[in-house]
Amino acid sequence: MTSKRHVLKIALGLVAAASAAATFAADTGPIKIGLILPMTGQSASTGRQIDAAVKLWMAQHGDKIGGRKVEVILKDDGAVPDATKRLAQELVVNDKVTVLAGFGITPSALATAPIATQSKTPMVVMAAATSSITDASPFIVRTSFTLPQVTVGIADWAAKNKIRRAVTLVADYGPGFDAEKFFDSQFRLDGGKILDKLRTPLKSPDFAPVLQKVLDDKPDALFVFLPSGQGASFMKQFAERGLDKSGIRLIATGDVTDDDQLNDMGDVALGIVTSHHYSAAHPSAANKKFVAAFEAANKGMRPNFMAVGGYDGMRVIYKALEATKGAGGQAMLDAMKGQIFESPRGPVLIDAQTRDIVQDVYIRKVERVPSMGNQLYNVEFDVIKAVKDPGKTK
Ligand code: PHB
Repeated sequence: MTSKRHVLKIALGLVAAASAAATFAADTGPIKIGLILPMTGQSASTGRQIDAAVKLWMAQHGDKIGGRKVEVILKDDGAVPDATKRLAQELVVNDKVTVLAGFGITPSALATAPIATQSKTPMVVMAAATSSITDASPFIVRTSFTLPQVTVGIADWAAKNKIRRAVTLVADYGPGFDAEKFFDSQFRLDGGKILDKLRTPLKSPDFAPVLQKVLDDKPDALFVFLPSGQGASFMKQFAERGLDKSGIRLIATGDVTDDDQLNDMGDVALGIVTSHHYSAAHPSAANKKFVAAFEAANKGMRPNFMAVGGYDGMRVIYKALEATKGAGGQAMLDAMKGQIFESPRGPVLIDAQTRDIVQDVYIRKVERVPSMGNQLYNVEFDVIKAVKDPGKTK
């Protein structure tokens, strides 16, 4: 009896020692951030921009939180949702990451949402922008934007600027459906008429057939949403088909006049009016500092809206981990909610209820800017303050 009790005591002691050692390791080992991005394939520019922004954040703010090292584990999902999900699973189970981050396209974010929920791992969406993403898991926080958020502004601007009849052209998946729906409802509310709703496939789109339809429809304006990375090839075909000389105005979300590609588009892009949450030409001191540091660290590469989503995502992660002393799970999630700060894009808030970002949306026009090397920029000329995602029904 005595010896049995003694054995039990030793066994319990060993368990306690082992768990203490585990706690000790967890508290002193590195804090791991699992960053999943499309580094290859059609959305590779998104991965390149966000990876550079994450590295810039760490170069500026250090790789230690509360004395513990921060380790970013970067995985390339090629924007293939099955790969995103598998990589997320491996990062959570094998690498024991504290937080998941990245997510270049909507299907990748949606595929990963159940893993975040089941493992109670906070998941920071830095790029994908379909409104419903934050509803897919209570552990998702978003630092990018939503399509409804940036689309309503350009619909209003169009209606106020002599555009009565419009055609919409969107990529045929989540964010495109959001853009089409919110342009349509706002523009019609403002008295406009939609003549046609056109869609192109997400993968390797050919714009020739839809551009021919636009020429036949003869609207006052064509409204476009295409995901980051497709703007330059769209503009090329737009000019090749003569739409730039057709009298049909081109309006879009800022995804089309993406800072990553804009300067290479040439004069055909001049005068395009878009609405979006970020322009590299945003005239704040914080943005000038961000753009200068980003370009200096990346051989002159100009940051786009994806880079800002990544940079701000790191800010939200760092501040939360500082508050929890490195703990993840629900405590970290709670520490991400309600953060208010000045981003390079302007003032932002992580809405505690929706876990989505509240931000200013700007109306911009593509111009050559003599004071900025005569390059093409989206020059902001109007602002809609503190826009909440209009796609949220709650
Ligand atoms: C998305 O897939 O959610 C997405 C990707 C690129 C964009 C916008 C939305 O520019």
